[in-house]
This record gives sequence, C-alpha cells and structure tokens, in this order.
Amino acid sequence: MKEKTKKLKIAVLISGGGTNLQAMIDRIEAGKLDAEISLVVSNNPDAYGLVRAQKHGIPTAVVDYRNYGKRFLAEVVQSTLPKEFDEVVNRQRIYSGLADGEVRDRLARLALAEQEVLALLKPLNPDLICLAGFMRLISPYFIGHYNTEDRYGIMNIHPALLPAFPGTDGYGATFSYGCRFGGVTVHFIDEGEDTGPIIAQAIYPIWPEDTLEVVRRRGLELEYAIYSQCIQWMAQGDLKLVRGEDGRPQVRILDPEYPAFLEQLTQQAFAR
Ligand code: GRF
Repeated sequence: MKEKTKKLKIAVLISGGGTNLQAMIDRIEAGKLDAEISLVVSNNPDAYGLVRAQKHGIPTAVVDYRNYGKRFLAEVVQSTLPKEFDEVVNRQRIYSGLADGEVRDRLARLALAEQEVLALLKPLNPDLICLAGFMRLISPYFIGHYNTEDRYGIMNIHPALLPAFPGTDGYGATFSYGCRFGGVTVHFIDEGEDTGPIIAQAIYPIWPEDTLEVVRRRGLELEYAIYSQCIQWMAQGDLKLVRGEDGRPQVRILDPEYPAFLEQLTQQAFAR
C-alpha cells in the first residue's frame, strides 16, 4: 500500500451476472485493491451478482425499479417528488427528443426509485459508488448526492471506446459496425448518458475470424483489470481532476506506473 493510500468504502450497483463485481471482490481479497464493499444494490431481484456478493459476506439489497412504472406515477408521484426536482429536470441530458411532460414523468419515476437507493447508501457514507453492469440511467437527482464542483463520486465501466458507441450494447455495436479495434472505458458519471470524464481506456483487436462472443470475452478481461485499477488509483489519490482548454473536466492519472500498466494490458489483449 502506498503511503497516501486510503482504503475506500465503496457501494456497487449491479443488474446482472456481476462478473465485474467478482473481479473487484477477488482483487480486494488478494490485497490488490484497497477497498471495502459496504453494499451491493441490484435493481434486478434475480441478478446473479447478488449471490456472488452474499458468498463473500457482502450485504446486498434490491430496489426494483419496475415498482415505479407508469401506473405508479399517476397515483403518487406529485406528492412524493424530491424538493429539488425542478433543478433535476433542467440539468438532465439523459433524455432527448421527448416532449417536456414525458421527460418530467420519466425523471420523476427514476428519481423515486433512486430515493430508495439513496436511503440505503446514505447511512454507509461511501467514498465511491461503482456501477458494474447497472442497466438503469442515473438522474441528476442521484448524481447531486455524490458529485461536487471538484469531485466526481460515481464510476462506471463501459464496454466500448467512448465517445463511440454509448448505450447498453457496446460490444454488439462495435462488432456489427466492423471496427478493427474495440475498447473499454472507465469514466465518471455526469448528467449525460456515458458522457462523463474518462479515467482510463484500453483497446483490443478484432481479427477477421472473431465472433461477437470472442470479442466480448476479450473486452471483459480488460474490463476486470482496468476497472479495479481505476478504483485503486482513486484510493491512492492518483486521480486528479483538471480543466481542459475548453473548460471541460478531465482526469489525470498521476501514478508513474500507469504507462507500464497500460502497455502490459495491451500486450495481453493482442497476444494470439
Ligand atoms: C459489462 O460488459 C459492463 O461493461 C456493462 O455490462 C456488463 C456487465 O457485466 N456495463 P457483469 O454484470 O459485470 O458480468
């Protein structure tokens, strides 16, 4: 452990198989990741990731977003909206091309589900929220609890080389476009969908004989390594937020071993 390292208290949000979660757990247990997972939350009650967490004695919870469907909205929403809701509507960039009323409705339902997640997270006071295959959008209401002017508090792993191929099917979109390289991106969450500051990226080749399954497996191996490493950099105080010339927030990695790490990862991905 480097001198400045602070063991991070993290909460992980999942929706499915949880192999990224497993990779974090394994690295924590191997002493390679200075973090402690305080809670795993899933929106999907059947997510296998919940079982993975339980096997390692990590507390779990389910917040089923389907409980906040359209029917629910008509009855309850207006009386239970968070008080900062108007600001949430103004700041959002996750919904576009929809009528104002529809955006408001969708955000309202999302924020109500998020209220439940926040109630679980708040008492734990996590240093970082990690999204690991969490298939729900994050509203500015939720983000407002973890991002400040100079600190981003929610990390995500995305299965494509952003800003190419945002959305839920990064591997499928990369593959069917006919790309010669694919990639994975760890980034912080901001008010848009997959638009937040990039922390680290890694690439893999797509060879002519590859199938989508092969490509996905190659990418996932990179995801496991790079996501845990980014969390470790945060624990080490090695992620610095700076402003680009256009004022856009950017992340600098201060760890002098970063180039060697990336080189090794790339070599592994290209090995045949
Ligand atoms: C990963 O490819 C991740 O990048 C994406 O969803 C997938 C989740 O897989 N957001 P798992 O649940 O971690 O196995």
